[in-house]
Amino acid sequence: MAEGQGQRYSKGYSSIALTVGFAQPPSTAPPTATDIQGLFDRIAPVYDSLNERLSFGLHRVWKRMAVRWSGAAPGQQVLDVCCGSGDLALLLAHQVGATGTVYGVDFSAELLAVAEGRSRRAHLPAPLHWMQGDALALPFEANTFDAATMGYGLRNLTDIPQGLAELQRVLKPGASAAILDFHRPQGWLAEQFQRWYLEALVVPTAEQMGLTDEYAYIGPSVDRFPTGPEQVKLARQAGFERAVHYPIAGGLMGVLVVSRHDRV
Ligand SMILES: C[S@@+](CC[C@H](N)C(=O)[O-])C[C@H]1O[C@@H](n2cnc3c(N)ncnc32)[C@H](O)[C@@H]1O
Repeated sequence: MAEGQGQRYSKGYSSIALTVGFAQPPSTAPPTATDIQGLFDRIAPVYDSLNERLSFGLHRVWKRMAVRWSGAAPGQQVLDVCCGSGDLALLLAHQVGATGTVYGVDFSAELLAVAEGRSRRAHLPAPLHWMQGDALALPFEANTFDAATMGYGLRNLTDIPQGLAELQRVLKPGASAAILDFHRPQGWLAEQFQRWYLEALVVPTAEQMGLTDEYAYIGPSVDRFPTGPEQVKLARQAGFERAVHYPIAGGLMGVLVVSRHDRV
């Protein structure tokens, strides 16, 4: 496993969405990788409390579902991409137990520091490795992991097909990944609810915490994100033989479950 590559970042990001999926305010020039890291680094101190407040604690339920659907099992070596402050990686550590290993990868040093502190305090059963790295050029050899998760990361990637291709590359044949993110609900009522939620709850809450710019454009970021069927198509194009998108939380969230065939 090439851990040394973990510090390498790709340049030239053209757009980005932030925390529980909030887009970058519009600017004339596309943000660079440094801009994006900076954005997440600034949010790091309040990231967990905002997540908790804005999802009414429900993100923990959705994350548990993602871990279950990733197929992670005791004794396995598993990966959480775009791990942020480590929620999914910590859940994975409980799932794989003392004989398993968990890697959490993110390019925000500040969020990784939060994750590291949490794992130190949690006395987890499985060894947990936090690595600074790029989801678009994962610092691992091909066919390394038995299962993987990604929570609210895919929508943040500037190159979703490349992110999916990287995930496919590092998973072993037969392995699965569960990718949790926002979802554009079908149906007028759910759509109106999501709009109200974003405009009346998320943006004002972020404003109260001094993060107006960082959270102001969550709506457009969700609008730009591929729908469930589009995600399935992208996953197949990335080389996954099996891809199913499950809308959850009344269609406001979704989990894309992708798997490789069990032969090389
Ligand atoms: C919304 S946060 C999600 C964090 C965590 N998975 C969760 O569910 O709470 C998105 C994360 O993606 C990371 N990220 C975005 N683009 C990335 C990239 N190209 N490589 C690595 N991490 C990236 C950000 O630093 C951030 O921590």
